[in-house]
Amino acid sequence: MARILITSAIPYINGIKHLGNLVGSQLPADLYARYMRQRGHEVMFICATDEHGTPAELAAAKAGQPVEEFCTEMHAVQAGIADGFRLSFDHFGRSSSERNQKLTQHFAGKLAENGLIEEVSEKQVYSNADGRFLPDRYIEGTCPNCGYDKARGDQCENCTKQLDPTDLIEPHSAISGSTDLEVRETKHLYLRQSALRDDLDAWINSKSDWPILTTSIAKKWLHDGDGLQDRGITRDLKWGVPVKKGTENWPGMEGKVFYVWFDAPIEYIAGTAEWADANGKTDADWQRWWRTDLGADDVTYVQFMGKDNVPFHTLSFPATIKGSGEPWKLVDYIKSFNYLNYDGGQFSTSQGRGIFMDQALEILPSDYWRWWLLSHAPENSDSEFTWQNFQSSVNKDLADVLGNFVSRVTKFCRAKFGETIPSGGEYGAAEAALIDELNRRTRAYEGHMEAMEVRKAANELRAIWVVGNEYLQAAAPWATFKTDPDAAAAVIRLSLNLIRVYAVLSAPFVPDAAQNMLSALQTDNQEWPDDMEAALAALPEGHAFQVPDVMFRKITDAEREDWQSRFAGQRS
Ligand code: 2FM
Ligand code: ZN
Repeated sequence: MARILITSAIPYINGIKHLGNLVGSQLPADLYARYMRQRGHEVMFICATDEHGTPAELAAAKAGQPVEEFCTEMHAVQAGIADGFRLSFDHFGRSSSERNQKLTQHFAGKLAENGLIEEVSEKQVYSNADGRFLPDRYIEGTCPNCGYDKARGDQCENCTKQLDPTDLIEPHSAISGSTDLEVRETKHLYLRQSALRDDLDAWINSKSDWPILTTSIAKKWLHDGDGLQDRGITRDLKWGVPVKKGTENWPGMEGKVFYVWFDAPIEYIAGTAEWADANGKTDADWQRWWRTDLGADDVTYVQFMGKDNVPFHTLSFPATIKGSGEPWKLVDYIKSFNYLNYDGGQFSTSQGRGIFMDQALEILPSDYWRWWLLSHAPENSDSEFTWQNFQSSVNKDLADVLGNFVSRVTKFCRAKFGETIPSGGEYGAAEAALIDELNRRTRAYEGHMEAMEVRKAANELRAIWVVGNEYLQAAAPWATFKTDPDAAAAVIRLSLNLIRVYAVLSAPFVPDAAQNMLSALQTDNQEWPDDMEAALAALPEGHAFQVPDVMFRKITDAEREDWQSRFAGQRS
């Protein structure tokens, strides 16, 4: 039994995530966590909300709520939706937790002790009306290059010219519109990532088994231009982790907070501590996942994320960990994803484009989405959601293949033999061939799941469902029943047992359907089919079952058209 620590990129608090976000981190992480638990490993699966930064402050202001209250509410909303998608986190924490504050300040203190933090004086725009410094993108004005009147302080969207806020004509605050702005001198902390460059380079080079997508992004940042840049890790904001050196005040840093990307990944650790707090565990219980001096040396740590998050996880967070000089667990494998596009364009949170997690659950149960998203995960390239493809995959894979097998077998048995596993008949060559193929395919499925090859695993699982259907079609118990009921009984006995095997194998992808199958079979035997022949004899003759309700219904053309037009516009 291995110990596997799994984290998913933690979603920003400022809104409900779309399906592109889901398939790039939380969902494949859940697939892996469920599979590893099923195989008997000890799993710790952590996620959280990423609550700091200007977007959270602005979203709260827009909602007319104090930011703490907004975050508490949104955390509950996101936790509810995660539950709806059956994301099986051991803990869904909050980056604004006390645990994360303390740990973030602790890491900053250690980095300072090790000479890896530099204090830098900078000039920044201060808004008197807003009573705060404005990040570049919250300053608007007229572009000196093209005259566009909504250019931002960092770039003109119209002509793409890179700008400094001081370049703008008639600059004003994007928050209040006020023009009462001034340039003030302010001090910030920089993490000297450049000092860790060679160390990080060697570490990335040692990860030859990582996905190319992950290492290519890391190498680009390490080697392009001037190489790894030092990075500002503080901000002049009110909402965030107050800047401290461990437990001590940091002279000159009063009223400042850490940059959201500094404290967010530390929440992976803090979230595990929050898990301990929430479950009456001790510090030792969470530290054995994270401290290599306290038991984490035999932990395998896997992270899941979209490609935009890769630089922070391959370079910045490891720089924090390594720079601390303390024995914290470093990630062992980073599984990253490309983007999922939506019907000819991009999913976009800011533009409200695409399907959002809450909306998805309003129209169909989570298994339908889980199956489509995972079987189309954007692993080797970006992939695209279209309603046509969604309808045909769901109808074919789930309704026609898996659902149909379960329904045909159970209904036929009820009609001809009653609601118990029938006795009589022998297994012959067809059954031997089926068992052989199922064994072979199950080993392949295991290999893909272990390697986190999500699409390949889905394809193999689908093939396993198909093989059962083909067997049933060829054995045709409805025909043989008339002349040789014993032969038909043998086929049905095997097929009912195969439903249990399907439930077990399919559970990481479609957990609710898997549970329905087991309930219909009136068993909680979830033993993995290491030996297919034995697995197909697990439910004995005479064992009672029930015909389940329709497992997967088909999506009609009318529904598809309705949803397509409903989700064509912008979410308000
Ligand atoms: O891209 C995002 O949604 C970020 N909130 C991910 C943060 S992951 C981390 F480092 F915690
Ligand atoms: Zn311009």
